[in-house]
Amino acid sequence: MLSITLIGYGKMGRMIQNMAEEHGCRVISVIDPGQPGCAETLAETELGEVCLDFSHPDGVMDNIRQVIAAGKHLVVGTTGWNKYLPEVEALVEKHKTGLLYGANFSIGMNIFSRVVRYATELCDKFPDYDVCGWEIHHNQKADSPSGTAIQLAKTIIGASGVKETPVYEKMDHRIAPDELHFASVRGGKVPGTHNILFDCETDSLELTHRARSRACFASGALQAAQWISLRKGIYTFTEMMEDLLC
Ligand SMILES: NC(=O)c1ccc[n+]([C@@H]2O[C@H](COP(=O)([O-])OP(=O)(O)OC[C@H]3O[C@@H](n4cnc5c(N)ncnc54)[C@H](OP(=O)(O)O)[C@@H]3O)[C@@H](O)[C@H]2O)c1
Repeated sequence: MLSITLIGYGKMGRMIQNMAEEHGCRVISVIDPGQPGCAETLAETELGEVCLDFSHPDGVMDNIRQVIAAGKHLVVGTTGWNKYLPEVEALVEKHKTGLLYGANFSIGMNIFSRVVRYATELCDKFPDYDVCGWEIHHNQKADSPSGTAIQLAKTIIGASGVKETPVYEKMDHRIAPDELHFASVRGGKVPGTHNILFDCETDSLELTHRARSRACFASGALQAAQWISLRKGIYTFTEMMEDLLC
C-alpha cells in the first residue's frame, strides 16, 4: 500500500479518503487547520510517500513549497496557482522529487478535451462556424473561471486558426473574431459542467462534459498518486493519461 497524506479535508479530501484503499493507498495523515482531528500544519505531522493537495488557492503555494522541501512526491488538484509554475518547476528540479498537477482529474474530461480539440480542427475548416464555451460549478467554488475552462480555452486556441485571445469576463463590447468567450456561472451543488458550442447560421454542435460526482476526480487523483510515486520531475494529468494510453 502506498502511504499518502491529504492536505485539505473538504469535499475532495473526504472523497479521496473514502476511495483510498480500493486504489492501493493508505491515508497516514490529514492536514487541514479548519477541521477537527486534523493536523494544523505540515510541520507537525508525518508525511506519507505522496501528498495530495485539495485545499485552497490562497494556501496551496505554501503547501507545495513545504512538501517539495521535505522531498516528498505531490499531487496538486487545487487550482488557481499556475502563475507560480516556473518557481515550482525549479523547486522540483532542485529537490529531485515528483509533482503531478491538473485542473481536472476526471478521465472523462481528458477524453472530452481530445474531442474538443478534434471538433475545433474540423470546424476550423468551415469559416461559418464560431466557437465559445461556458462552465457552471457549485456555489462554494473559490475560483473563477475554473482551471478546466482555462485548459479547454487553451486547447481550442491551439487548434483554431482564428481564435487567439480568451475572454473570461462579461463582454462589454462586440466580440472580435479572434476572441474566444468562455463564461463562468456559480450556483447550487453542480460538481462541474463544461460546455463548448460550435455555431453557425444553419446548425449548432454542442459538446458537454458533466461530472456526476467528485468520485471521478478522486479516482483520478489516487491513480495519479500511484503514478507519480514512481517518477521524478513535474507532469500534468494529461501527460499521465498519454502514458497510460500508449
Ligand atoms: N483537479 C481536480 O480534478 C479537482 C476536482 C475538484 C476540486 N478541485 C480543486 O480542489 C480544491 C479543493 O476543492 P474542494 O471541493 O475539496 O474544496 P473544499 O470543500 O472547500 O475543501 C477545501 C478544504 O481545504 C481547507 N484548507 C484551506 N486552506 C488550507 C491550507 N492552507 N492547508 C490545508 N487545508 C486548507 C479548507 O478549509 P476552510 O474551509 O477552513 O478554508 C477546506 O476544509 C479547489 O481548488 C478545487 O477547485 C480540483
